[in-house]
Amino acid sequence: MIYCKIIIYNYFPCVYIILAFLNCRAGAKRCHGPAADCHREDVADSPLKEGGAVEPEDYYSKVLKRSSDLKTNACVTPAQPIPAFIRQALKKVHPDVSDRYYGCGLVVPECLEGCRILDLGSGSGRDCYMLSQLVGEKGHVTGIDMTEDQLEVARKHVDYHMKEFGFKKPNVNFVQGLIEGLTEAGLEKNSFDIIISNCVVNLSPDKKRVLAEAYSVLKDGGELYFSDVYSSGRLTEEIKNHKVLWGECLGGALWWKDLLQLADEVGFSPPRLVTSKIITIENKELQAVLGDFKFVSATYRLFKVPKGNTKTCQVIYNGNITGVEESFLFDCHYTFKANKAVEVDGELATILTSTRFKEDFTCQPPGGPSAPCGVKPQVSVTTKFQDVEMSFV
Ligand SMILES: C[S@@+](CC[C@H](N)C(=O)[O-])C[C@H]1O[C@@H](n2cnc3c(N)ncnc32)[C@H](O)[C@@H]1O
Repeated sequence: MIYCKIIIYNYFPCVYIILAFLNCRAGAKRCHGPAADCHREDVADSPLKEGGAVEPEDYYSKVLKRSSDLKTNACVTPAQPIPAFIRQALKKVHPDVSDRYYGCGLVVPECLEGCRILDLGSGSGRDCYMLSQLVGEKGHVTGIDMTEDQLEVARKHVDYHMKEFGFKKPNVNFVQGLIEGLTEAGLEKNSFDIIISNCVVNLSPDKKRVLAEAYSVLKDGGELYFSDVYSSGRLTEEIKNHKVLWGECLGGALWWKDLLQLADEVGFSPPRLVTSKIITIENKELQAVLGDFKFVSATYRLFKVPKGNTKTCQVIYNGNITGVEESFLFDCHYTFKANKAVEVDGELATILTSTRFKEDFTCQPPGGPSAPCGVKPQVSVTTKFQDVEMSFV
């Protein structure tokens, strides 16, 4: 279940949460130079500072001490059950790191061994340390975040985790910077196989720039797999500027159709929905401001692959991907059973044959010689994209 328990006015710490989110937002908006300099400029300019409120850096350090301090709707629980191998990986994460987890979804794409992953807005590093185990010693995970205190917690526990995982040398590192300025923060273009993010993109006022930067540091065939909050339409200025709604991850939510548009403009393949959940608003005052707008938390996958292939194809999954050997839920439309032929459109055929999944799928023309058992696409039992659309009607 995902929730936004919009009842925060009564909670003193939550005021800080909201103000800090606002500062995050302001910082991203004004920064076009080196991340560190930008950050200082942002602090100096901050109207919140003038108002005697918290500094941006204080939000995830001095204000929040652990996840349980998030008494607000900032938290969104995963839409799908957590598989056993991921639960095992999470158990090995140091409690100091887990205690400061402020994410809102499960961002674990499949087929990770040996991959180079980037986590946008990595916080104290819980997802980085979970993924560090799944990519293995030959893979690597980088976390980027604007909040130094969060990064400090993450960095402090590198040695602990490497020992715990039995790795000879660290396969994680943490960088301070803005998600709107990945290359400015020193991340190399075309250098990551996968980018993940857990409820952070909604905090950015320049989502196109975030997507463009992500596209630029992904390798060809790379994937952006991220969880975030989306709205049923373009939000009004009143909602966007509403401090509580922004802090509650609603005011910054992108209209889901705009994600499709932005992804296309930046060069990504059309976003493919993995899972989604309706967010319920439990506060009459805020509901009145939101009017008829509805919200979902959703996980999308976007690929950096060549465009224009429209030929349908039959694909067969070989069952070799760790954790999804029998059945691979690729998105809300397609679940691939091992050794069963499935007809897919040209766009998906391109993805399966030009990304890290290419070793795990064979592709042949529809009705090909070895395809007597061709079946129609499997529609998963989890929420379908149409459900999201209908929920917006
Ligand atoms: C809700 S927390 C999520 C943290 C982390 N993903 C987790 O799961 O614990 C948002 C994080 O994004 C960071 N953040 C927000 N806006 C950012 C930006 N524009 N650039 C870099 N980091 C940002 C904050 O510092 C914070 O650590």
